[in-house]
Amino acid sequence: MKVDRQRLRSLKGIKWSKYGPDVIPAWVADMDFLPSPRILSEIQKIVDLGDFGYRYHDVDLLIPAWCEWVEESHGWLPPADECRVFTSSMNALEAVMLLHTEPGDGVVLFSPIYMPFRAAIEQAGRTVVDVQLQGPDWKFEANSFKDSLDSKTRVVLFCQPHNPTGHIYTKEEINDFAEIVAEHDLIVISDEIWADLVFEGNKHLSLFPNHDKLRNRTVTIGSASKAFNLAGARCCVAHVGSASTRSHLEKYPDHYFGLPSSFGSAATVAAWKYGKSWLQDAKEQIQHNRDYIYSRILEDPSGLTMHLPESTYLGWLDFSNTSLSHQPSKELLYKAQIALEPGDKFGEQCGSFARLNFATGIDIVEELLERMLTALNR
Ligand SMILES: Cc1ncc(COP(=O)(O)O)c(C=O)c1O
Repeated sequence: MKVDRQRLRSLKGIKWSKYGPDVIPAWVADMDFLPSPRILSEIQKIVDLGDFGYRYHDVDLLIPAWCEWVEESHGWLPPADECRVFTSSMNALEAVMLLHTEPGDGVVLFSPIYMPFRAAIEQAGRTVVDVQLQGPDWKFEANSFKDSLDSKTRVVLFCQPHNPTGHIYTKEEINDFAEIVAEHDLIVISDEIWADLVFEGNKHLSLFPNHDKLRNRTVTIGSASKAFNLAGARCCVAHVGSASTRSHLEKYPDHYFGLPSSFGSAATVAAWKYGKSWLQDAKEQIQHNRDYIYSRILEDPSGLTMHLPESTYLGWLDFSNTSLSHQPSKELLYKAQIALEPGDKFGEQCGSFARLNFATGIDIVEELLERMLTALNR
C-alpha cells in the first residue's frame, strides 16, 4: 500500500499537523493509508445527497454488522440484544467504569498502557491500581495482579491486543486472569479495538468466549477505528456481557451516553460489511514494515531493542541501552526530526521507551529508521 506524502502533509488530523514539515510523525495511532474506497463512497453518498437528517436506525445496521464481523473474524457471535452503540471506545469504557464505581474505588490497569486509561480513572476521582507488566514479553503475571487487589477494587481495564506492546494474552494468561477476577467479583472492560490487526501466526482471543467465569462480568469494546483508519469518524459497538452492567445502562435516558454521527455509522458499517480485502492489503503492508523494522533494529549496534509485536502497528522501543536512554522521544524529535510517542506517557517505569507507529508506506519507514539509527549511533 502506497502513501502520498503531499496528501499526508495537507491533512488536518493531529498526526500530520502537529509538527513542522521537516518532522516525520510516527506518534498518535492513526494510519497513513487512504481508507477503503467503499468507505469513502458511502460517506460521499451522504454528502452528495445532503442526507444529514436523523439516522437513529443506523443502530440496527451497526450492531448486526459488528456481530457478523466478530463471528467471521474471531469465531464467536456476540448476542445482538446484549450489544450497544457508543460514540467512541473511550466513551464506552468510561461509561461502564463510572456505573460500577464510586469516587475512591480502585480500577486496575496493566501498565505500560494506552495513556487515556489512566486519565479516565484519575479524572473520575477513582484510584488507579497500576499492575506493572514486565518486559521483554509483557505477559500477564497472576501474582502481581492478585497482590494489587483490595476490597475497594471494582473494575479492571483490560486491553487485548495490548497497546503499546502488541502482546496478545494467551489462553493460559486468560485462564489465570479469569480465576482472579471471579474470586474478587470484578467487572472487566475488555478493550478489543485492535483485534483485527494481528500478525501472521498469531490469533486474537476475545476474553468473553474464552472463559466461563468471564461471561457475566465482561464488557467487550469493538470498533473499526484502528483497523480501518477511522478514528475521527467516532463510532463504537460494545457487547455488554455483564447483566448488572446492562441493568445499570437501562436506567439512563436514551441520549445520555451519546451515539455516532451519520458519517461514523456509515463508515463503520461499510468497513465491517465490505472492508475485508482492503484490510488484508493494509495488514500485509504493516507486517512487511514490522519485519523490516525488527530486522534493522536487531542488526544495529546502537543497543536499541524491540520486542516483536504480535499485533497492532506499534513498536514498543526500548532505548535503555542506547546513547539516548533519557527521554528518547524528545531527543529524537530534536536530533532526528521524528516524532514518537514518549514512553513515560504509558507508565512511570517506561521513561526509556518510546512507541513507534509504523502504519505507513515502506519509504517513510525506511527514512524514519535511517534518521533514528543515525542519531543513535552518532
Ligand atoms: C486501546 C485503545 N483504546 C481506545 C482508543 C481510543 O479509541 P476511541 O477514539 O474510539 O475512543 C485507542 C486509540 O488509539 C486505543 O489504542
